[in-house]
Amino acid sequence: MSKKPNLAVVGATGVVGNTVLKVLEEREFPFDNLYVMASAKSAGKTISFKGKDYIIEELTEHSFDIPIDIALFSAGGETSKKYAPLAAAKGVIVVDNSSAWRMDPDVPLVVPEVNPDDVWRNKGIIANPNCSTIQAMLPIKPLHDKYRIKRIVFSTYQAVSGTGVKGIEDLKQGLAGNDLLIAYPHPIAGNCLPHIDSFLENGYTKEEMKMVNETKKILGDESIRITATAVRVPVFDSHSESINLEFEKPFELDEVRSLLSSFKGCTVADDPENNVYPLARQAAGKDDVFIGRIRRDYSVDSGLNLWVVSDNIRKGAATNAVQIAELLIK
Ligand SMILES: NC(=O)c1ccc[n+]([C@@H]2O[C@H](COP(=O)([O-])OP(=O)(O)OC[C@H]3O[C@@H](n4cnc5c(N)ncnc54)[C@H](OP(=O)(O)O)[C@@H]3O)[C@@H](O)[C@H]2O)c1
Repeated sequence: MSKKPNLAVVGATGVVGNTVLKVLEEREFPFDNLYVMASAKSAGKTISFKGKDYIIEELTEHSFDIPIDIALFSAGGETSKKYAPLAAAKGVIVVDNSSAWRMDPDVPLVVPEVNPDDVWRNKGIIANPNCSTIQAMLPIKPLHDKYRIKRIVFSTYQAVSGTGVKGIEDLKQGLAGNDLLIAYPHPIAGNCLPHIDSFLENGYTKEEMKMVNETKKILGDESIRITATAVRVPVFDSHSESINLEFEKPFELDEVRSLLSSFKGCTVADDPENNVYPLARQAAGKDDVFIGRIRRDYSVDSGLNLWVVSDNIRKGAATNAVQIAELLIK
């Protein structure tokens, strides 16, 4: 792209959309014109960006009649299903945060540190992976390249901000003794809910199957065996994950630590004797993926356990989407 792009942020009033704006500002993303869009409910209100007020426009079938180069969508799956193809047909490149397009074979699913070249296979839509998948991919990529992963067991401990404004409100009110149940079927305060997104016929939740299927697509390897259990916990920001890996090849822990420390976007925080390991509150507001509790799984020949924590709204959504847009304008 030779000129500065015209940008649209769709879902600008939401938890992710708001952070997309923040990240665009922080990273000084170059643009010519910016359009902020949401539902009819927000149309006419203003959003401040780089010291200037922008009027929120209602997303309609005509929103992309004006010249827009890149649209960052964070407005839910149904909105993306309807409007992303309309935008793409008008020459816009859509970077979509919802799960609507992720498994479409014509849509690249991209984590910029892992499979940046896939963006160029786009036909107008590029998908941002699920938040819990994105943070797992950074430590997994260098280890898979070196030792070939045979099997992965994911167990997640996911923050309520992953459910957007309703999830945050449910926990806030619940902690004050008023269980709202607007985001979840059970109180989230004081509970762990082994239920994220809806249940499927195979007994897994959609969130769990997203981790299984998206991991294979991003790594371009259908042979890895993967299982996942996704749990919502009463934490506001940052997802934590236990990741158990079984490799084909033997490994040394020192080499694992060095591979993880030198991989872009990863920070190793692993000094358990001094109580140092990644924590949700420390990761919140940061872009890196934090890795600790790095230790052998002695129950198999070549197994490794990791504890992986990252801000689900930043690297798990907004930052990853903005990084994809940065690849497009390079
Ligand atoms: N939260 C996360 O950790 C996370 C991570 C990865 C991906 N995502 C995905 O990102 C998307 C947004 O999530 P969120 O957590 O930011 O949700 P949210 O806080 O509930 O925000 C939803 C946004 O979508 C807009 N919207 C809803 N219906 C619309 C419509 N018909 N037309 C235009 N805009 C519409 C809303 O606008 P109004 O304010 O006008 O209603 C709001 O800006 C979802 O697809 C979600 O799955 C979220």
